[in-house]
Amino acid sequence: MANRERFTSRLGFILVSAGCAVGLGNVWKFPYMCGQNGGAIFILFYLAFLLILGLPIMVCEFSVGRGSQKSTASSFKLLQPEGTKWNRMKWIGILGCYLLMMFYTMVGGWMIYYCFLTASGKFVGKSPDLIDAEFGNMLADPKTMMFWTIVTIVLAFGICLLGMNRGVEKITKGMMICLFLLMGVLVINTITLPGAAEGFKFYLVPNMEVVKEKGIGTIIFGAMSQAFFTLSLGIGAMAIFGSYLDKDRSIPGEAVHICILDTLVALMAGMIVIPSCFAFNVNPGAGPRLVFITLPNVFANMPGGRIWGTLFFLFLSFAALTTIIAVFENISSYAMDNLGWSRKKSVIVNLVAMCFLTIPCVLGFNVLKGFEPLGPGTNIMDLEDFLVSSNLLPLGSVVYLMFCVRKNGWGWDNFLKEANAGKGLKFSTKLRGYLTYVLPVAVVVIYLKGYYDMFANKSTTLLIFWMCFAVAMLAWIGYSVFYTPKNKLQSNNK
Ligand code: TRP
Repeated sequence: MANRERFTSRLGFILVSAGCAVGLGNVWKFPYMCGQNGGAIFILFYLAFLLILGLPIMVCEFSVGRGSQKSTASSFKLLQPEGTKWNRMKWIGILGCYLLMMFYTMVGGWMIYYCFLTASGKFVGKSPDLIDAEFGNMLADPKTMMFWTIVTIVLAFGICLLGMNRGVEKITKGMMICLFLLMGVLVINTITLPGAAEGFKFYLVPNMEVVKEKGIGTIIFGAMSQAFFTLSLGIGAMAIFGSYLDKDRSIPGEAVHICILDTLVALMAGMIVIPSCFAFNVNPGAGPRLVFITLPNVFANMPGGRIWGTLFFLFLSFAALTTIIAVFENISSYAMDNLGWSRKKSVIVNLVAMCFLTIPCVLGFNVLKGFEPLGPGTNIMDLEDFLVSSNLLPLGSVVYLMFCVRKNGWGWDNFLKEANAGKGLKFSTKLRGYLTYVLPVAVVVIYLKGYYDMFANKSTTLLIFWMCFAVAMLAWIGYSVFYTPKNKLQSNNK
């Protein structure tokens, strides 16, 4: 990667990493996943996974990034002992980043479009039904969606082209603080809504009926996937920020801050959206459209709602944009690292490619509606989200973990030295057994069980197809991870 910049301040690193982590996962996905999976019970598992899975794996990713000073495309190659097959795992990262952006930029576009709609006064005084219908109109119209998706892509790549450090460090800092303040105001506003108490109950008290209906496996799997998603783990997106970081602070200490910020934003978003559902009679299980059919109601009924609503969607758009910029930075760096392209060439080619790659997702809501890859009612966005969130992220996370603990990988000693270099919270050696044996097995078991539960009550064909897919992925990864060349392992080359 050309001219590897350093963060100008510690706060810069924390806020930029938090800017990558805090995104649609917090403000869009978390509330609806929470609503679909039984509220409080989902949150409980989610918080537990953040602590026991998310945090250690984030430390692994940052350490690999800082240790190699490179993006995923070449970090494995640089740190692996000669003859091993870790380098192949870069494809999880590369594919993951592209696939993620194939739907994420579209949803980012929805945010900007809603910002525009709210500003133009479209929702003032509208009833919940009409607001719901507005969302349906957008989905039915591929031209509008494509337009706003392209706006998002051009904006984000444009900032990438400028060189992201200065601009993003500054923009992100301001935006994150505004986002926090505004969300605080909205949480208070939500408390005063009539009927909100019901919503808080749903959000805070576990409901066993949903567990019975959905199956605990699905809920746990969903909570685990969401924990990886919200922290941007598994596909090397965070590793790259590790590579911009200097060594005067230990990595676990910084990771804790990022996790806390990210979790706060998610919990606040849920606290705004879920009670609003009950106040305006929207089903919290409505899925991806949830934020778009609840929040405009809140603003339509609030004094000065047009301004607050515009600001709110503006900040959501920025939350999405900082994430997209971070992933685009990864994407541009692959061609720069592997093919030797200039930043300009890489950005332009990827910009054009990205515009085409988002087409299937957009058409999945209208023209290609009949294609239901994950069972009745699902679409192409669900498929892309599923491939990334439920497959590449958990499995990629296991790869990072194993790379850091296994002798045929980077190895525990190298990892620990890198993670603990600098002032701050240290990673304990006592965690070695936990990271080596407990964590990878737990993730794989939850992965397979969740998969099974997800399709078992749908159709046998789907179940067989997707189980074969899961096993094939595991086999490919397992082979690469455990492969050790016959001649004794050389000591690590760096
Ligand atoms: N964490 C981001 C969010 O919450 C999404 C994201 C960005 C991501 N980069 C990622 C998820 C890399 C997984 C991997 O919106």
